Amino acid sequence: MAEQTFIMIKPDGVQRGLIGEVISRFEKKGFYLKGLKLQNVEKSFAEQHYSDLSSKPFFAGLVEYIVSGPVVAMVWEGKSVVATGRKIIGATNPLASEPGTIRGDFAVDIGRNVIHGSDSVESARKEIALWFPEGIAEWRSSQHNWIY
Ligand code: TYD
Repeated sequence: MAEQTFIMIKPDGVQRGLIGEVISRFEKKGFYLKGLKLQNVEKSFAEQHYSDLSSKPFFAGLVEYIVSGPVVAMVWEGKSVVATGRKIIGATNPLASEPGTIRGDFAVDIGRNVIHGSDSVESARKEIALWFPEGIAEWRSSQHNWIY
């Protein structure tokens, strides 16, 4: 199976109208959208998603931010999509993100940085299982030969 990553547009990205912009950047690059839903998440679910960060001083504020409005949860697929997705997103702190990246172009504050992307193939696997327990759509034909 081709590599997959979990991408989430955070509440600020949704409410600022950046859903199309984010999807467009991943699509134009040549990645495939395999899962997509708009949803509000419970506090306990947000805590589970960010469980690795539970000891950090910003954890409570981060969870509060994630539950503050709907998020867009997505699965994207393609060659090296985890690492390349992180490049498309940009550095964690938007003031350090390069222009041309999503955070570099659309964010200023680390606590309002618009988007999440899995940081490794292993965390992508865990995050996809957490966010899409129902599974994702299976394509019956493939357009991969247009890209690779
Ligand atoms: P992290 O997993 O380190 O970054 P990334 O999202 O780039 O993988 O942190 C998760 C989120 O926590 C990050 O997107 C924004 C927030 N955060 C803060 O609010 N303050 C901080 O000092 C850090 C490091 C992260």
